Amino acid sequence: MVQFNLPKNSRMRVGKTWPKPEGATNIRRFNIYRWDPDTGENPRMDSYFLDLDKTGPMVLDALIKIKNEIDPTLTFRRSCREGICGSCAMNIGGGNHLACIYGIDEVQGDVNIYPLPHMPVVKDLVPDLTHFYAQHASVHPYLITETPTPDKEWRQSIEDRKKLDGLYECILCASCSTSCPSYWWNGDRYRGPAALLAAYRWLIDSRDEATGERLDELEDPFKLYRCHTIMNCTNTCPKGLNPAKAIASIKHMMVDRIV
Ligand code: SF4
Ligand code: FES
Repeated sequence: MVQFNLPKNSRMRVGKTWPKPEGATNIRRFNIYRWDPDTGENPRMDSYFLDLDKTGPMVLDALIKIKNEIDPTLTFRRSCREGICGSCAMNIGGGNHLACIYGIDEVQGDVNIYPLPHMPVVKDLVPDLTHFYAQHASVHPYLITETPTPDKEWRQSIEDRKKLDGLYECILCASCSTSCPSYWWNGDRYRGPAALLAAYRWLIDSRDEATGERLDELEDPFKLYRCHTIMNCTNTCPKGLNPAKAIASIKHMMVDRIV
């Protein structure tokens, strides 16, 4: 049987275990991925213990408490703390979630926290999303028209506007794309669920006049058809969106235009 090993510089080492809070009776252990490119050392897992009676309910509350009160070197992204900006997406308890709206009580036992899977890491829990954003830009996520711009606004019927529900709400957190095995193995060429959801949002916008060009752009064995309907994207989306359905709808549009 073929055996795969991680490259030497990717192998995890045992990290530091910080002391438990004194006198606490409601303690939870947080095991957190740490990697600092400036040290030249391999990544490690550090363990922290928090008194849940003195910690807010969300995983982000725990991370902020650790950073403020135990270890200021812990690095992670966050901004809105209410599931709107998408910056706190990370792998918690084996699934991708927004730390700010994911409850500590949703995890059984130790809380294991890693950066989003299969992305280059900038530091600790911060992934490098440069390629992810470039893929989003590649689907031209804006209105393209040929007819002259109207004096007031591009009008849209209520029914056509409703077709965008479940699509425009994407916050680009990258939870879906980084949960997708096809994206893990072919992320250089496969656009991934987040970019394809955005592509579909503009493909079905009644005001857009570049539908043919948009479909031409995606007609490719990798960009679109690397989706094998694994459904991780839809299962993980913290906004309750359905990228897998959007991708299937694009495939339908591809077929519809040639039959
Ligand atoms: S579709 Fe959902 S999981 Fe994917 S980037 Fe958008 S909000 Fe995040
Ligand atoms: S901090 Fe903005 S989505 Fe979590």
